Amino acid sequence: MTGIYLDNAATTFPKPRQVGEALRDWLETGAGSPGRGNHALALRSGDAVHRVRRGLARFFGVRDANRLVFCCSGTDALNMALKGFLDEGDHVLISSMEHNSVLRPLRGLERDRRIRLEVVPCDSLGRLDPGDIVGRFNERTKLVVVSHASNVAGTVQPIGGIGTAVRERGAYLLVDAAQSAGVLPLDLGALDVDMVAFAGHKGLYGLQGTGCLIVGDRIRSLRPWREGGTGVDSLSETQPRAWPEAFESGTPNVPGILALGAGLAFIEEKGIDAIRGVEMERCSQLWEGLAGFENVEMYGPPPGEDRVGVLSLNIRGWEPGDVGDVLNSNHGIRVRTGLHCAPLAHRTLGTHPSGTVRLSPGYFSTPDDIRKTVLAIGMLARTLVAG
Ligand SMILES: Cc1ncc(COP(=O)(O)O)c(C=O)c1O
Repeated sequence: MTGIYLDNAATTFPKPRQVGEALRDWLETGAGSPGRGNHALALRSGDAVHRVRRGLARFFGVRDANRLVFCCSGTDALNMALKGFLDEGDHVLISSMEHNSVLRPLRGLERDRRIRLEVVPCDSLGRLDPGDIVGRFNERTKLVVVSHASNVAGTVQPIGGIGTAVRERGAYLLVDAAQSAGVLPLDLGALDVDMVAFAGHKGLYGLQGTGCLIVGDRIRSLRPWREGGTGVDSLSETQPRAWPEAFESGTPNVPGILALGAGLAFIEEKGIDAIRGVEMERCSQLWEGLAGFENVEMYGPPPGEDRVGVLSLNIRGWEPGDVGDVLNSNHGIRVRTGLHCAPLAHRTLGTHPSGTVRLSPGYFSTPDDIRKTVLAIGMLARTLVAG
């Protein structure tokens, strides 16, 4: 049933053994609600959540762990950053490789005439030139949003250089690290980045429905976009101001957070470079194997350039969705096809509106999985269906 799973860009699978163990332990030995009561199980959950927060803060080079906010998803974290930070009249720049979870909230703010949005074009491999961002700055430019690694073509953006250029002009940089957190080193102590949003269920090996927003010291004020019970300051009828509670209204997703902690422990045990090395080996094996088929067109930078292991392709004469269906039904190979919630990125790559077939191997993909996938795609590439 599991088959060959090549959809790790959607969510990593399988999860490391430690993740299941952490969940079982939590269910069997006490599942109190953190910050809700002073009994032993509530306190135990609260301590466990704080340990994960501190661990993630250390991992990402964040000095004040309270500035790491647990969210419901990567999308939730991005909405929190965009809707909490932007003010009437702000000018916002985004790259043309952004996901709908950046584009849609911003288009909504633009529609309501709250902000002005400009899309900075990337080249046909999805690469953004920091000079092109700088050229679009005006006196109202407040925020630049860039995805660190593309969920369509794997392209990695030079966020260090972009951050420095943005900071020199007095603006702020928000990085969507959904595809890079846990995969690429991200040391916020060393980078000119002001906010980072990521999902917990991809490269960090947590569960779906988790994410984080990290808010740097330069961000002095952020409006909570969700308000309610926080477990602290209950006498007050208005939202508390303390970090992180101000932004974490509602009972936290304790199992999700503990799974994230176990995923992080796995990454620290293996080493982020070793994990990336395996993913890039699998990506190179795919690229080299498929490069031999003249009907297969691959997108994004080749292995060896700045990229992660997310590979998009098309087979001439085939619709991407049909390729995915045949791989799934006839070969047990699980891939994602279509627009990947990123129509802007597909316009940039020239694959709009039908999209691509996306293969995203992970740490647990084997060379044999890749060999079988190359064979299966090779068979389709020799079977042209279009007239
Ligand atoms: C680049 C990018 N940004 C944001 C997201 C949104 O993350 P989530 O699905 O956890 O909300 C994704 C998820 O696929 C993504 O790939």
